[in-house]
Amino acid sequence: MGTASASFQLVRDRTEALAAPLSPEDQVVQSMPDCSPTKWHRAHTTWFLEEFVLDGEPFDPAYRYLWNSYYEAVGPRHPRPHRGLLTRPSCDEVRAYREAVDERVVAALEAGSLSPERLGLLELGRNHEEQHQELLLMDAKHLLFQNPLRPAYVEAEHRPAERADPAWGWVGHEGGVLEIGHDGRGFAFDNEGPRHEALVRPFGLADRLVTAGEWLAFMADDGYRRADLWLADGWGTVQAEGWEAPLYWEPGGDAPARRPGDPHGVGWTIFTLAGRRPVDPAEPVVHVSYYEADAYARWAGHRLPSEVEWEAVAHPLGAEGLVGNFLDDHGGGAPHPRPAGRHRPGLPPRQLFGDVWEWTSSPYGAYPGFHPAAGAVGEYNGKFMVNQHVLRGGGCATPSGHTRTTYRNFFPPGARWAFAGVRLACDDDPFRSGRSRSSQGTAIVPVTVDVVLDPADWSSHLAEETRRGLSARPAWTPPVWFYDDAGSLLFDEITRLDEYYPTRAERSILEANAAEIAALSGAETLVELGSGTSEKTRLLLDGLAAAGTLRSFVPFDVSEAVLRSAAEAIAAERPGLAVHAVVGDFTRHLDAIPRRGRRLVAFLGGTIGNFDPDQRVRFLFDVDAMLEHNDAFLLGTDLVKDPARLVAAYDDRAGVTAAFDRNALRVLNRELGADFDPEAFDHVAHWDPDASWIEMRLVARSPQRVRVPALDDLEVRFEAGEWLRTEISAKFTAEGIRDELWEAGLVVQHQWTDPAGDFLVSLATPYC
Ligand SMILES: C[S@@+](CC[C@H](N)C(=O)[O-])C[C@H]1O[C@@H](n2cnc3c(N)ncnc32)[C@H](O)[C@@H]1O
Repeated sequence: MGTASASFQLVRDRTEALAAPLSPEDQVVQSMPDCSPTKWHRAHTTWFLEEFVLDGEPFDPAYRYLWNSYYEAVGPRHPRPHRGLLTRPSCDEVRAYREAVDERVVAALEAGSLSPERLGLLELGRNHEEQHQELLLMDAKHLLFQNPLRPAYVEAEHRPAERADPAWGWVGHEGGVLEIGHDGRGFAFDNEGPRHEALVRPFGLADRLVTAGEWLAFMADDGYRRADLWLADGWGTVQAEGWEAPLYWEPGGDAPARRPGDPHGVGWTIFTLAGRRPVDPAEPVVHVSYYEADAYARWAGHRLPSEVEWEAVAHPLGAEGLVGNFLDDHGGGAPHPRPAGRHRPGLPPRQLFGDVWEWTSSPYGAYPGFHPAAGAVGEYNGKFMVNQHVLRGGGCATPSGHTRTTYRNFFPPGARWAFAGVRLACDDDPFRSGRSRSSQGTAIVPVTVDVVLDPADWSSHLAEETRRGLSARPAWTPPVWFYDDAGSLLFDEITRLDEYYPTRAERSILEANAAEIAALSGAETLVELGSGTSEKTRLLLDGLAAAGTLRSFVPFDVSEAVLRSAAEAIAAERPGLAVHAVVGDFTRHLDAIPRRGRRLVAFLGGTIGNFDPDQRVRFLFDVDAMLEHNDAFLLGTDLVKDPARLVAAYDDRAGVTAAFDRNALRVLNRELGADFDPEAFDHVAHWDPDASWIEMRLVARSPQRVRVPALDDLEVRFEAGEWLRTEISAKFTAEGIRDELWEAGLVVQHQWTDPAGDFLVSLATPYC
């Protein structure tokens, strides 16, 4: 079977797999006019292919009437509210129908007999079927909820989040005249285009979704009983429908109290595809209408984002940033939104894709210049452009790969059975206006930021390094190209992968030993080189604060945006701490670090492993030269271990590291105008035992010729099998580090490892 047939069949098989847990009885019933029976979804998606992609005799002429959804141009059809009355044809007959149509489509694909127009309609058919896969789950959930036994679609255990992180912040955007909409390259539904300009004022977008716990607070504050919070239509609906909680929430059980702090309050349960269980306050709220989302936003003192604002933040992340909790992650389990990962100031918003569709304040309408396609498929989207609101992002029941940054889902404002939730927005770019807000909305103390990095100098330095690397054989590139917004997001995902142990191991060392490190260093100032989001650093700050010595914090990084927001967040968390950030290159600007009392200079994350041995020696000499006699240096290094584990850490099963690696080529294309085809390279993690490092390589699958206009039109050729080295990550031994530090003039005072002996943190002081 060719690739096209195989990928078509995969989509078709997924529908059958989703229907499999449902009995024939489950598959016939329609729980409300908006929902359709499972059997109907299976038949209708097949009819779509037969009607629009295939020629010839229909499987059964009656099916044109039975399974047409809303296409007037095709002819009359069975009324929507009566779909549940179709006890015949049986589920088995529908299966036979699906198989017959699949066979014909695959035969046509294998024979190459579909015209380009039909191939386009087949692509539409595949995407249409993916939409129905999500609808099938939404509708099945709604149906099962009508049953007083609240039966599960599938059995799956719910494991509440181990350590939910309630912190959140705003991601600021300066606004302007922006382009939004699909640019016509690759598949998109017609409603996503044309690409056009839109004016946006400065705004902030919450960096995570609203949680069920926050929704409980809204309910406890009489959110469903205060007319002043609601749009008139919404308030009418609340009263007519008797809403007092999201759909699928019911009082009972040992769920969280209805009113926080009220021990006698009745808890709330939620019905999920895995059955009924207590509401988990850390998970995103789901199954709320536009009316509820809007009322919540008003109650919280903010508002919903417009779809233009949402896309302005999402689009720069590109296809690589489309990571999240999608249908395929549940592999036969029960799709449900998951709590957000850790709050990391400076990174793009969490949960932007997957988990829940996000209500926007934008009414669903045509973009300027929109024309529906000719013929019946022109009825696909255009005729629904009234009385609905746009939702963005994709949900936990959306097949991965289905959604896009330009994707426009839509539902009427009162609809609640979609996997829809809420992300807040605010007016004014909170960063531009010089203040950020914590979740309580308090203003943050401004921090001092020294910028010693001259952007022009940095660009030419990087260009020179990149030219050197691309001209070498094997070729290499500086690792700095990994980190645009999408790259930072992917790196964040990597640190949460099972296979990627270094972040967890280093964190556990700091957790266990921060007090001892603080006592040994006695530092008043914590300096952090390559500080990034300064996430683990908070443990050191806690240790030094508890020891009573801490006065100031100096984060140092080359990335100004990340540095600023991390610095602001830390200043807000720790009133009284002087935060003095420095934007610089740690290979050239260590002398710009302020001298303020006794200092502990930390270099964490195993970042030193990214240097080659010469660079390492030079860097350690520079560090020694900047230290005063009573300062100390804290170094985090990854340790040599079983090569299989090392390779797995840099080549995970889910392919996140591969996506991260290829993203570097996208950044090079964007920043230097290069024309790398990222998909023409395979990601490989190679362990070099002699050099004692992992190399991340991008190996050309076929001969490649790449031009780099910004490097005087440099031309780089790769034979098939030749590679580009995007990163080295050296691995050390405790003795090796001791020796290297000694060579540079630093004496190790103490070394700590995690219980598994995976990672090492060393504390050293200058010996003269
Ligand atoms: C792998 S991250 C480690 C971040 C953090 N220290 C941790 O342990 O999670 C490397 C950091 O070093 C920064 N960086 C890379 N090259 C740099 C340079 N030449 N000068 C200053 N910072 C640099 C990056 O921006 C990034 O924040």
